[in-house]
Amino acid sequence: MADLFPVPAEFAKNALINEKTYQEWYDRSVKDPDGFWGEHGKRIDWIKPYTKVKNVSYSGDVSIKWYEDGTLNVAANCLDRHLEKRGDQTAIIWEGDDPNESKHVTYRELHEQVCRLSNAMEGLGVKKGDRVTIYLPMIVEAAVAMLACARVGAIHSIVFGGFSPDALAGRIQDCDSSLVITADEGLRGGRKVPLKANVDKALETCWSVKNVIVVKRTGGNIHMVTGRDSWYHDLTEKAAPTHKPAEMSAEDPLFILYTSGSTGKPKGVLHTTGGYLVYASMTHQYVFDYHEGDIYWCTADVGWVTGHSYIVYGPLANGAITLMFEGIPTYPDASRFWQVCDKHQVNIFYTAPTAIRSLMREGEELVKKTSRKSLRLLGSVGEPINPEAWLWYHRVVGDNRCPIVDTWWQTETGGILITPLAGATALKPGSATRPFFGVKPLMVDAEGKVLEGAVEGNLCLAEPGWPGQMRTIYGDHERFGQTYFSTYKGLYFTGDGARRDADGYYWITGRVDDVINVSGHRMGTAEVESALVAHPKVAEAAVVGYPHEIKGQGIYAYVTLIQGEEPSEDLRKELVAWVRKEIGPIASPDLIQWSPGLPKTRSGKIMRRILRKIAENDYGTLGDTSTLADPTVVDDLIDNRMNRG
Ligand code: WT7
Repeated sequence: MADLFPVPAEFAKNALINEKTYQEWYDRSVKDPDGFWGEHGKRIDWIKPYTKVKNVSYSGDVSIKWYEDGTLNVAANCLDRHLEKRGDQTAIIWEGDDPNESKHVTYRELHEQVCRLSNAMEGLGVKKGDRVTIYLPMIVEAAVAMLACARVGAIHSIVFGGFSPDALAGRIQDCDSSLVITADEGLRGGRKVPLKANVDKALETCWSVKNVIVVKRTGGNIHMVTGRDSWYHDLTEKAAPTHKPAEMSAEDPLFILYTSGSTGKPKGVLHTTGGYLVYASMTHQYVFDYHEGDIYWCTADVGWVTGHSYIVYGPLANGAITLMFEGIPTYPDASRFWQVCDKHQVNIFYTAPTAIRSLMREGEELVKKTSRKSLRLLGSVGEPINPEAWLWYHRVVGDNRCPIVDTWWQTETGGILITPLAGATALKPGSATRPFFGVKPLMVDAEGKVLEGAVEGNLCLAEPGWPGQMRTIYGDHERFGQTYFSTYKGLYFTGDGARRDADGYYWITGRVDDVINVSGHRMGTAEVESALVAHPKVAEAAVVGYPHEIKGQGIYAYVTLIQGEEPSEDLRKELVAWVRKEIGPIASPDLIQWSPGLPKTRSGKIMRRILRKIAENDYGTLGDTSTLADPTVVDDLIDNRMNRG
C-alpha cells in the first residue's frame, strides 16, 4: 500500500480549507456553478459588475465565456486596489543571480513603475488589443511589462529567454506584435544570455514590429537601431507616474502563451481577463493556503504559465509577497534555493520535480546546513513527481513538517486543477490527489467510454468547468476545437494519461500524445523533428521521449542521413547545435541514433510505438510488427540502440 500522510494537526488549525469545507464547496461548485462562481467572482474588483456567470459549451462550435458582461482591469486588481491598505508592503522580493543582489519593491513602487511604462507604451502608439512580445529575464521589469500591457489593454505574449531567435521570430509573426520588450542581456548562473542580439536577429524576418524597448540589465555592449529601439529607463523617466487603467471586458484577451502540441508549430494559447484572474487568485490563495504577510516563492520563469499565474497574477491580485528569482538552483552552489529561503524567510515554496531530483543527487548536507524553519508548505509542478523525490522533498527539505501540494495543470487550464489542499487532503507521494473546485475529471478509454471506479485511462474534463480555462488558439478557433474537444465528444481532452485509485485520488502517468516533458518543459516531438530535417544532411528524423533520471524525460532522436552522408561524432554534435539554434537549448536531443531506416507501415506512417519501446529499452514487447513494410529495420534499431539499460 502507498504511504499515506494525514493532514498535520498543526497545519489544519489555521488552514483556510478543511475537509468539510472542501466537500461542501466542491459539491456546490459542480452542482450549482453559477451560484458558486457568482459568489467567488467577487473576490476581485469589477468596474461594472457581471450579471451573467457561466456560458460554456464543450460541444459543437466550442464556446467558453465567464462573467461576460462584467468589466475590470487586471493591473488595477493587482496594484491600485492594494494601495490604500498595503501600499508600503512589499509586493515583489527580487533575488538576483548574484547572491549579493536583491531588492524589495512595494506595491506603491510597483504601481508607479507600471503607470510609467503604460504611459510610455501608449506614447509609442500601443492600443487596446495590440500584441506585445516580452522577451525578458527574471527581473522586476518582466512583471512591470506584463502589468503595463494589462493596464493599457494590450495582449502580452511572453517568450522564454531560452528560446532561439528563430523560435522568437515565429512567435512574433504568429500574433503580429507591434512592440517587443527585452533586455540587453540576461544573467543566469553567472552566464550572460544575449537577449537583445537575439531580438535583432529575429526582427530580420518580422515586419510587424515598430518598436523595441530595452531594459539595461548587464550594461553589455549591444546595438540600438535608431527610430526603432529605445531604452526602458529613458522612456519611463520621462513618462508620467500615474495612469488611468483601461476598462476591459471580462472576455477581452489578457495574454497569449505559445505551447507545444503533438503536431506542427506551437499553439498560441489565449487567456482572457475576468475568469482567468478569478481562478488564478483563488487557486493561489487556497492551494498555497496563503495568509496575509506570508512570503511566497515560486521558482518558475515568467516565460511559462506557472510564472504568469503563480508569480505575477495570482499572488499580486491577492496582495501577497511574491519572490522572483533571476538565477538557477545550482549557482553559486546547489544549496542556493535553501539559502534564499533562509535569507528571505520564505514560508511557501513551489518548484519542479526536476529541480528536486537534481538537488537530491548533490546530497542532504547542502540542504541540512540551512535552517528552512520558515517553510510551512511545499509545492510541486510541471511533471509527475516520483515517490522517491517526493519523500526526499518531504523529509529533507520540509523536515517532515511541511505538506506537499503536487499540483497538476496545463498552460491551457490557466490554473491548478488537480491538487491536494493541505488542510483538507491526506497526501500520497506521487499523487496529485483530488480536483479543485469546479473541476470534473473523467477517465475515458480509447473508444471514448467513460470509466467508473478505480481505473487507468485518458484524462478528460467535463463541464461545468472552471473560469480560468483557455478560450481559443490565437487566430485559429477551429484548431482549438479540433485539438481539445474532438477526440472525445463534449469533453476537454488533456493529452495526459492517469490512474484513479479506490480513494478517488488521481495519479497522472504522463502524456499519451506526441508531447514529451523534458525537465518540466513541454516539447512537441514534431517540432524537434522538423528542426532536424531542416538540416541539409538529414533525410528523415523521428523523435520520442525516454525515461531520464533527472529530466523526467529525455529527447531521443532517430536520424536517417541523406544518401552519401556518413554518421560521425562531429555530425552528432553539429545536429545538437543545430536544434539548439532552431528552437533553443531546451530542445537539445540527449541521444541521437543513426538509423538507416525507420519502421514504417506499408502506407508510410512511422510506427512511433516501436521507436518509443526501443528508446525505453523495452524492446522485448514490441507488439505487432507484421504491418511493417520492412520488419528488418527494427532489428537494426535494437542492435544499435543508445541507452542500454
Ligand atoms: C503538462 C502541461 C502546469 C504548469 C507547468 C506545465 C504535465 C504538469 C503535473 C503534475 C504530473 C504534470 C502534464 C501536463 N504536468 N503538472 N503535477 N503531475 N504531470 O505546463 O507546459 O502546459 O505542461 O505537464 O503532462 O499535461 P505545460
